Amino acid sequence: MTNCSLFHDWHPVLESDELPPETVRSIRLLGRDLVLWRSRDRVSAWSDRCPHRSVKLSGGTVKNGLLVCPYHGLQFDETGRCVEVPGCPDWTPPPQLAMSGYAIAVRYGLIWVSLQPDTDTSQIPEFPEWEDSQYRKFLCGKYRVRSSGLRVMENFLDVSHFPFVHDGFLGDRTRPKVEPYEVELSDRGLSLNNVRVWQPDPDGTGVGAKVTYNYHLSQPLVASFEKLSSSGRLTIFFAVCPLDVEDSLGWMWISMNYGEDIPEAELQQFQDTVVRQDIPIVESQQPKQLPLNLSAEVHLPFDRSSIRYRQWLKQRGVTFGVV
Ligand code: FES
Ligand code: FE
Repeated sequence: MTNCSLFHDWHPVLESDELPPETVRSIRLLGRDLVLWRSRDRVSAWSDRCPHRSVKLSGGTVKNGLLVCPYHGLQFDETGRCVEVPGCPDWTPPPQLAMSGYAIAVRYGLIWVSLQPDTDTSQIPEFPEWEDSQYRKFLCGKYRVRSSGLRVMENFLDVSHFPFVHDGFLGDRTRPKVEPYEVELSDRGLSLNNVRVWQPDPDGTGVGAKVTYNYHLSQPLVASFEKLSSSGRLTIFFAVCPLDVEDSLGWMWISMNYGEDIPEAELQQFQDTVVRQDIPIVESQQPKQLPLNLSAEVHLPFDRSSIRYRQWLKQRGVTFGVV
């Protein structure tokens, strides 16, 4: 399981605001318990197990920049070294009494972790609108889906369900036809281009029109798309955290260069409604883990995106959340 490509990827695990200085949290990532804690300015992610008697360090506290185990009070510094054993104050803890950390970074208001300790932060998926002041941005989620993150992502890439699951929102039941679109797999990842969809009200003017989506994924559980309409450009940066093989959390950063007058609450509510339409559908898929054997499900002509996605996962050696 540890050579699965998802273990090398960066995953969003928490909003940065959810971990203020001098606090500690327990999180789940790829079926493992992790402790996340922040000293005054540095975040750390370790396996959630004290090396002394194996209690969860996430039940502890942060004091003077040190993580204190709740059981016998061992104190660890940011580098993972145990620097104090209160029960034997004259004893110097050996260097082996240390926690090894996972790779961690704060980006786009989220805390990202990779289980591969030396994963480079340059591998965190790009979100160019983050730095672009022409785009208004807001975060939606987190959304909990009791299914494989890969099923969740495949749903995100599938526009053919819009007329049925999102009738009146992202599609129209009377116009279900999916026109051919381009799928490209390269060193940079997976792209879907020129995906055209009829939407009843693509930009809040109440007038139906055709819009174009272009998707890109540089790793299996983070995707972004741009949606081009006559009003402007909207992007969604969608990052899914695989908690367990059949449990996931998703965040969506929406950015748009139009519609300044639409209240953020309204936009957020729209997105929440759309995602709430998807969740029961995705959670009803059986098996909950994504089948990579292409003969396990029937594919239709408009499924080229998901066929490619599954082939790409297989190529990358993904073994978590798949059957
Ligand atoms: Fe952590 Fe003993 S179990 S200090
Ligand atoms: Fe959907």
